[in-house]
Amino acid sequence: MAPRRILIDTDPGQDDAVALLTALASPELDVVAITTVAGNVPLPLTSRNARMMVELAGRTDVPVHAGCPRPMVRTLYTAEYVHGPSGIDGAELPEPTIPLAPGHAVDVLVDTVMAAEPGELTFCTLGPLTNVAMAIVKEPRIAGRLAGLVMMGGGFFEGGNVTPAAEFNIYVDPHAAHVVFTSGVPITMLPLDVTHKALTSDARIARFRSLGTRAGDAVAGMLDFFDRYDEEKYGTDGAPLHDPCVIAYLLEPSLFAGRRCHVDIEHHSETTMGMTLVDWWGVTKRDPNALVIDTVHADGYFELLVDRIGRLR
Ligand code: RIB
Ligand code: CA
Repeated sequence: MAPRRILIDTDPGQDDAVALLTALASPELDVVAITTVAGNVPLPLTSRNARMMVELAGRTDVPVHAGCPRPMVRTLYTAEYVHGPSGIDGAELPEPTIPLAPGHAVDVLVDTVMAAEPGELTFCTLGPLTNVAMAIVKEPRIAGRLAGLVMMGGGFFEGGNVTPAAEFNIYVDPHAAHVVFTSGVPITMLPLDVTHKALTSDARIARFRSLGTRAGDAVAGMLDFFDRYDEEKYGTDGAPLHDPCVIAYLLEPSLFAGRRCHVDIEHHSETTMGMTLVDWWGVTKRDPNALVIDTVHADGYFELLVDRIGRLR
């Protein structure tokens, strides 16, 4: 079976970094390009961090294109309080040597989709949806040409992680999320409702460290750092490993389950700004616009991640 062709839009972030390494280590996926967006940390850092992961994976064949430095309407809100000042604290890696690839991420997203056959490409988003929304505004036809968009973002029964109502990726750019969720692109949404069931633990992190490789050590170091904020916030032994759920879903969808729902994005009220209103019970009778995932086989998820990271040096 031919590898699935994907583009990954990301704001690394330790969890993004693990997702990138997993994708780059998986022969089932053809990572056509990586595009970076402002989110966890400002764009220069997310672009630095993505290039560091490409080099760590030995995949400098994959271009990294920088995208939007701020949300479509709101000012940028970042999360150094979670990820540290670099965005990937705990990684202990050298600065990247490869340059950014020429071309703005928004143009690359549009041009790549328009040059491909309909249904050939899948977008994977791990951060705020600014780049993808701007691409849809620039060339609305891409929504109908994509095989799908698989995204980490939102929350419903789990509420939010930035405000009681809003998860970070949607909160940062709710207007972009509104554009994407009303574009008609086939969406698979992996919200906090599923990622909060995929918790790291000392034992699970030790599995990465036991690989005895640079990649395994980098993942263990990043997760040790990344865990501390959510462990203190939620009082759990471990933190939700959000973004690799997107890649794991593509690799082994049988690890996940959910249902098709209509999802609205709050982009007016400051009180609930960025809320993903998931019509889980179908009470609005509105046509579903997303497959909303709420279940994961956590052991299988971490087995998959260890197996893939274990393929890197
Ligand atoms: O809410 C979790 C999401 O926000 C993850 O993508 C994390 O990397 C941050 O971007
Ligand atoms: Ca992210």
